[in-house]
Amino acid sequence: MLQLTLLLKIHTFFILSMSSCSFDGSSQLSAYERKRLKNITENAKFFASLKLHESAARLHKIATKVPSHITKRAKPKKAEDETVRRRSMRLQRVEPSGVPMPEIPAQPEAEEYPRVPAGPLSMVPENQMEDNKLTEEILTTWTRITSLNSMTLSEDNVKKVVKNRIYSMAIHPSESTIFVAAGDKLGQIGLWNVTEEGAHVFIPHNYPVSCMYFSPFNPAHLLSLSYDSLRCGDVTRAVFDEICRSEESFSSFDFLEDNASTVIVGHWDGNVTVVDRRTPGTSSELSANIGFKRTRTVHVHPVNKQYFIAAGSVDVCIYDVRYLKSNGNKPVSSLDGHPKSVASAYFSPVTGNRVVTVCADDKLRTYDTSCLSSTVAALSTVRHNNNTGRWLTRFRAIWDPKQEDCFVVGSMARPRQIEVFQDTGKLLHSFYNVDYLGSVCSINVVHPTKNILVGGNSSGRLHVFKE
Ligand SMILES: *[C@@H]1O[C@H](CO)[C@@H](O)[C@H](O)[C@H]1NC(C)=O
Ligand SMILES: *[C@@H]1O[C@H](CO)[C@@H](O)[C@H](O)[C@H]1NC(C)=O
Ligand SMILES: *[C@@H]1O[C@H](CO)[C@@H](O)[C@H](O)[C@H]1NC(C)=O
Ligand SMILES: *[C@@H]1O[C@H](CO)[C@@H](O)[C@H](O)[C@H]1NC(C)=O
Ligand SMILES: *[C@@H]1O[C@H](CO)[C@@H](O)[C@H](O)[C@H]1NC(C)=O
Ligand SMILES: *[C@@H]1O[C@H](CO)[C@@H](O)[C@H](O)[C@H]1NC(C)=O
Repeated sequence: MLQLTLLLKIHTFFILSMSSCSFDGSSQLSAYERKRLKNITENAKFFASLKLHESAARLHKIATKVPSHITKRAKPKKAEDETVRRRSMRLQRVEPSGVPMPEIPAQPEAEEYPRVPAGPLSMVPENQMEDNKLTEEILTTWTRITSLNSMTLSEDNVKKVVKNRIYSMAIHPSESTIFVAAGDKLGQIGLWNVTEEGAHVFIPHNYPVSCMYFSPFNPAHLLSLSYDSLRCGDVTRAVFDEICRSEESFSSFDFLEDNASTVIVGHWDGNVTVVDRRTPGTSSELSANIGFKRTRTVHVHPVNKQYFIAAGSVDVCIYDVRYLKSNGNKPVSSLDGHPKSVASAYFSPVTGNRVVTVCADDKLRTYDTSCLSSTVAALSTVRHNNNTGRWLTRFRAIWDPKQEDCFVVGSMARPRQIEVFQDTGKLLHSFYNVDYLGSVCSINVVHPTKNILVGGNSSGRLHVFKE
């Protein structure tokens, strides 16, 4: 605390001395400015008496050791000191007599201007005491443009994996093998090891496979949902277990806990149900009317797992699963502004502080959900043609699981492409390849740790963009 106070004082001192330099005469100074100048001089004397010049350098050294997450720190005016020092050194070395000057003693210099050590150094900005956020941004931009530009599509990485229109996809977390599952309109699930020639098709459902995830707890489990059933494909037992069954009304699901033992399921009729995978039988634990005409997607908050977001006809609301009851449920938050049917709403992957929605009014919207007030207005709105029409699956905008502020969505634009937006609504990148991507990819999935994007079109074809 004492160090901080001192630093602040030093900072004030330097700022004051700088601003005093910008006056070139005291004749035009107002009385106020004169008083201020007098104060400054007195301050300067005071600090000089404390020999703070030296302590400033020492404190700077201490401060640079402070972890970089501490932002907004006062900073000694180093650059100015440096020029002064260099000038004086040059003056000393270029003696008109030509007599070489003795080396300047290294010790005090070393103390004031610490040398960069050998070996790897962490990428901490020189001006780290000012605003870390800006530096983080430049590094993020650097990483982002590098990885996005490095991801390309080749002929080998395009394959028809299922017979019909793709309704959902999942990617296995493995970093060594790109392993993708695609679910189609006929209830088929195609599994594809991308380095292999062929895909392998299974038929665990009778209706469109509208939602699919590898279990975050055990990736030997592939959970898939169709209108009438939620199944868990367990590769260790080579069986697609049935977890839950209903009357043709399931639309989507998500895991409520890290251990994936309970799930929330959205229904086309608007209700949501909570399903515990461990209870025997295929019925749900709780059916709750949330007042929706239709629930298209449900998604659980990545941190506060009691919250889930449901999106339906024109409703996008966040609920607390702990207070769900059969009827009379009130949302924690409503995400306003959707005049037409909403295709999807998902929380950002790390903090859940953002939500992105796709609406039939041709708009993508993001919301700030860092604090959940009863209504939340859109943070950004982007025009985005969603007129996929009758034969193509509707677009769903999904977040890149590796980044907090970046989402991926299919596009009607030509050449055919998959777009990446920032949460601000700025288009960051378009993935296209005129030779190998010739159709609209309505459904996309991004690898959780690697730079891999898979786009699925409406006749079962997958396109893998990778490094
Ligand atoms: C000068 O310093 C005095 C005492 O610290 C302070 O009250 C006053 O506001 C200062 N005046 C100016 C112009 O900075
Ligand atoms: C995926 O296919 C490649 C090529 O056939 C093979 O070498 C690799 O072992 C497969 N990966 C797994 C995990 O089976
Ligand atoms: C899963 O996690 C929840 C909440 O953390 C806990 O109550 C439950 O017992 C866990 N289930 C298993 C099978 O570990
Ligand atoms: C929705 O849930 C409520 C409460 O469990 C139930 O009474 C109602 O029948 C359900 N609606 C439909 C369409 O299943
Ligand atoms: C957006 O897409 C939906 C579904 O395909 C369609 O019904 C709607 O007309 C489209 N919006 C506009 C403004 O064309
Ligand atoms: C999917 O992609 C394949 C290969 O590019 C193409 O032949 C097919 O027409 C596409 N399907 C749709 C519905 O666009």
